[in-house]
Amino acid sequence: MLQLDEVEVPEPGPGQALVEVEAAGINFADVLLCRGGYQERPPHPFTPGLEVAGRVLALGPRDRAGVPQLEVGERVVAATALPAGGFAQRALVPVAQAHPIPDELPADVAAATHVTYQTAWFALHRLTDVAPDDTVVVHGAAGGLGTACVRLAVTAGARVIATAHGDAKTARARALGADIALDTAALATTDGDGPDALVEALRDAVGPDGARIVLDPVGGELFEASTRCVAFEGTIVVLGAASGTYAPARTNHLLVKNYAVSGLHWGAYRARRPDLCRQAQAEIVELWRTGGLVDDISRRGPLADLPALLDDLIDRRIVGKAVLEPRR
Ligand SMILES: NC(=O)c1ccc[n+]([C@@H]2O[C@H](COP(=O)([O-])OP(=O)(O)OC[C@H]3O[C@@H](n4cnc5c(N)ncnc54)[C@H](OP(=O)(O)O)[C@@H]3O)[C@@H](O)[C@H]2O)c1
Repeated sequence: MLQLDEVEVPEPGPGQALVEVEAAGINFADVLLCRGGYQERPPHPFTPGLEVAGRVLALGPRDRAGVPQLEVGERVVAATALPAGGFAQRALVPVAQAHPIPDELPADVAAATHVTYQTAWFALHRLTDVAPDDTVVVHGAAGGLGTACVRLAVTAGARVIATAHGDAKTARARALGADIALDTAALATTDGDGPDALVEALRDAVGPDGARIVLDPVGGELFEASTRCVAFEGTIVVLGAASGTYAPARTNHLLVKNYAVSGLHWGAYRARRPDLCRQAQAEIVELWRTGGLVDDISRRGPLADLPALLDDLIDRRIVGKAVLEPRR
């Protein structure tokens, strides 16, 4: 049960910072977290909210030498340290995984482009190496992560084929820069012997060479469709399963068609490769400075709006990102 409550301000422990939350991004993973289906299961009661931007109010004791430190008063964007998550006026963040942000970067933009753009960056620049003129397929292209995948692929010079559900979302994918946006509502996939409408449309869109990179935060039937349009030596990056189904990978098929399926959990990079996360963050901020970020935020509200915004996310009514602004 979600409940708006007054609780004690959390104390930063070793290696943690207390942050005054200016904006908190809402992610699909928050739905899983609230339902107890996320990989992290904090003891109840806890405050959800996985990413925040705001000002450092206090620092806990240092816990590791060599970790970049923060200053009180500095503005940061960061993943949070549960159980003191971001849907609150104050949140805790691990110092080692927090990124200072320039004063002129609005908090809502910083928060809305953290988890999603970092994840998309690792998909396109670490697990694959997107290059100009590559063909990249992005599923769920008008969702939070999908938006980031489209923008980073477009700004890398790739040709982007998007899939999204319905007219508004396909229009949004085109506005983000996708060359072609296929409507999954109109091209519903069906299981069967022959190629179905979505597979045919994807194959037409990617062309005879197939897609070198497929980015999939949705899973289910779309994963199967991806295996039918991926290029020789191409890669399908499994980013999530917003559809609720992690599709099985047929290893015989990937063997005979010479493609790879790669999994990506950004949290593992946060813990293991903070250096790469800092590189990604610098590039995301630079993209904002140079006008490469399209306004991702379609919904915003105060803390009391959280249940409604989560419901809208579950029911696929959010285009791009929703953010909470606890000071409103
Ligand atoms: N690997 C990582 O480190 C990482 C990082 C961030 C997110 N993720 C994962 O990526 C996925 C997307 O996250 P997000 O925050 O971008 O979510 P989001 O904004 O809600 O986007 C998810 C998209 O999935 C599509 N979808 C299809 N079936 C759905 C269903 N039954 N319920 C909800 N959405 C459905 C929707 O697009 P259409 O309506 O157009 O189909 C929606 O826009 C989640 O599984 C999340 O856990 C993983």
